[in-house]
Amino acid sequence: MSHVGIIRISTGIRELDEALEGGIPKGSWVAITGEPGTGKSIMCMHYAWAGLLAGDPVVYVTTEAEFRDIVRQAKMFSMDFESYKVLDISSKQEAVETPDIVVIDIFGLLKIARQMSEQSQMQQESVKKKRYAALDIQTLIMAIHEAYRVLGVLRDEKAKSPYKHVRLIIDSLSAFWADKPAMARKYSYDLKIATHRENVTAYLVSQYAMTTRSTFGFGLEHIADGVFHLWIDDVESTHEVKRYMIIKKMRMTNHRKTAFKLDIVPGKGITLIS
Ligand SMILES: Nc1ncnc2c1ncn2[C@@H]1O[C@H](COP(=O)(O)OP(=O)(O)O)[C@@H](O)[C@H]1O
Ligand SMILES: [Mg+2]
Repeated sequence: MSHVGIIRISTGIRELDEALEGGIPKGSWVAITGEPGTGKSIMCMHYAWAGLLAGDPVVYVTTEAEFRDIVRQAKMFSMDFESYKVLDISSKQEAVETPDIVVIDIFGLLKIARQMSEQSQMQQESVKKKRYAALDIQTLIMAIHEAYRVLGVLRDEKAKSPYKHVRLIIDSLSAFWADKPAMARKYSYDLKIATHRENVTAYLVSQYAMTTRSTFGFGLEHIADGVFHLWIDDVESTHEVKRYMIIKKMRMTNHRKTAFKLDIVPGKGITLIS
């Protein structure tokens, strides 16, 4: 079914792969948008798990939850991340073996921010001292680069692009512009310029602000190659949690145009119903 020359990357959700003619075109930047509780984080877990099964190195940025909780939640859906080599970027030890998955949580970002501040002070002692913040796009870019280094996917110190296909997950990006939503578009753009590569297929979660019915800052959707949008029916009228997802956009492929009903099944995770 898939077109010549386009490599497909599995989402880890069978029905979604089928709806995308085999998967996400390699190198895409996919925004996952939706209100709280719609299934965005679980969708990320499926994507990471599919990566581990496929032998793809995974970079997992988590700003909303500790990775420990992600591991616990994923286990409920029969995905055991601990059966793979997990390295937390904030850990003090250098990895003895090449990890399968590198985790960047708030502590990892703090560590990278501290390193960047120290470096900038050393380089320009008499000039301005720059202090980087943990939830800063430049810090995130550095942390992702460090994750690539640890995963051994860069040919040398100066390389910017992985030579091997990597899955990048950022859950969520909204945290980086929570206090300055007007900057969402610029920050998304900066991040894309710095990390968008042929060999990187990314999931970027964006919170949906219920009050305004627009994505937080509304920047990500403009620069994304694909958008998976998730929502819940108004619970006050339906008296039930009814979830849906739609492929709102996906570049370089034909795809299903109608919404799926989305269920989160114990022991299994997300299933999509036509
Ligand atoms: N073990 C489980 N079995 C079934 N459903 C679950 C289980 N664990 C969590 N859920 C469902 O998943 C929802 C959370 O999904 P999540 O992906 O974290 O949402 P989001 O990231 O969009 O806020 C919960 O509200 C709950 O309904
Ligand atoms: Mg979440």
